[in-house]
Amino acid sequence: MAEWLKDAVFYEIYPQSFQDTNADGIGDFQGIIDRLDYIKELGCNAIWMNPCFESPFGDAGYDVSDYYTAAPRYGTNGDLKRLFDEVHKRGMHILLDLVPGHTSVEHPWFKESLKAQKNPYTDRYIWTDNIWEQPEGIASIKGISDRDGCCVVNFFSHQPALNYGHYICERSWQQPMDAEGPKATIVEMEKVMRFWLQMGCDGFRVDMAGSLVKNDPDGLGTIRLWQTIRPFLDKEFPEAAMVSEWGEPDKSLQAGFDMDFLLHFGPSHYNDLFRCEEPYFSARGKGSAAAFVKNYKESRKKAGEKGLICIPSGNHDMDRLARTLHGDELKVAFAFLLTMPGAPFIYYGDEIGLRYVENLVSVEGGYSRTGSRSPMQWNHGVNLGFSNASPEKLYIPTDDKPNSPTVEDQMKDPNSLYYEVKKLIALRREHSALLSDGDIEFVSDGADGSPLAYIRSSADEKILVVVNPADREAVLNVPGDWKETLYEIGGAVVVEDGKIVIPSKSANLLR
Ligand code: NOJ
Ligand code: CA
Repeated sequence: MAEWLKDAVFYEIYPQSFQDTNADGIGDFQGIIDRLDYIKELGCNAIWMNPCFESPFGDAGYDVSDYYTAAPRYGTNGDLKRLFDEVHKRGMHILLDLVPGHTSVEHPWFKESLKAQKNPYTDRYIWTDNIWEQPEGIASIKGISDRDGCCVVNFFSHQPALNYGHYICERSWQQPMDAEGPKATIVEMEKVMRFWLQMGCDGFRVDMAGSLVKNDPDGLGTIRLWQTIRPFLDKEFPEAAMVSEWGEPDKSLQAGFDMDFLLHFGPSHYNDLFRCEEPYFSARGKGSAAAFVKNYKESRKKAGEKGLICIPSGNHDMDRLARTLHGDELKVAFAFLLTMPGAPFIYYGDEIGLRYVENLVSVEGGYSRTGSRSPMQWNHGVNLGFSNASPEKLYIPTDDKPNSPTVEDQMKDPNSLYYEVKKLIALRREHSALLSDGDIEFVSDGADGSPLAYIRSSADEKILVVVNPADREAVLNVPGDWKETLYEIGGAVVVEDGKIVIPSKSANLLR
């Protein structure tokens, strides 16, 4: 594993919406460079940036039309390299977003693949033998060229799936993983990775990493595929980090990823904590963390205890955290997010409680996700400091509701969410027990709105974390002698005779 991941705290940047520097209403690389000191001051030392490559932007850049060229709206490849250099100058790291599962229909590979005559790209995508044969249960593109076949789609209809083969081949058109087409796709994807790693990026967040091989019900084919890619990285770029959008750490870590995200879909029960009718972190205290904890423990065990599981504050696909949690609830949620193993990921703006912007028309295939992708709000200047463009030219409107949060306001207020997040990140980075690879032992699983408590440990220290989001006091039996309070929000716990009395709506870290 890349050594730098151990104390990494990530900040996810959706480049469209972070900082515009040329008044065209859309964020750019220079804007990110200009805000690196802000990110560093918050305490984050790593960045994940969403796709920034040439694309018709039918899915916000997750529909790549050229893997080797930065999208001109953000800047040039040279500007991107400058971003890498500026990140490194500050002792930080940056992951690009690799989209290996599909391209845009505009990609030259796909245009070649559409042709009836056989050519080197005929098998770069997955085609059935003729147009009347539809791939069972999967959407496909058909009837848009002379090629007689249906092409398997990976996500939206304009995102044809790249061909990595099938684990189980049942139809004549389903190629095995070791066929020429799938092998050529892997060679090309390795070339893409090498290109950006050589230029200075520090690794990749990998889009839909768990579904590359088709007809692969248990993921065994996709695991094997990534296992064949990892050795090239280990040899040529041993410090490169690979983080998967997979949502099943037991599989992805076995596949060779350093970390896997818990997602708002899949088996993790992540949504139980933050995004459901009664989230565990709501002060109503009607939610439960028990199913999450059970799944988390099992995944960790299967992943060999050391595998890193990332629990993000949110991302560009989920509702904003501040849509379901409010005020101090967010602070208690961050106390949890920033004290768990695996590197934390903060979605831009979550550190100031940026809100979901309701009732927007979809932008670039965002649909309901558009409200979570609105511009970062820096100050009370034009467009809240995001851009000097006229407001109607903005990529997505800013949150213009009263009391909409800004960095400027929160930096002036010592009780702000911003300061709480900053404090928690600093604490995490000071204590080895709290780092990504420290151990965790649960003492209380947050069943039925009860407190969540766990002991984080490294070779030299143990730290007890107790969070009680509910609006009621609670008592827990906790073994050990916890004397020193390292952090407290919402009131200090009282430790007496192996019992801990925990105030309502609080989080405590004890040593
Ligand atoms: C997951 C990405 O996070 C999402 O934004 C995108 O639409 C799909 N994958 C398809 O690439
Ligand atoms: Ca711009």
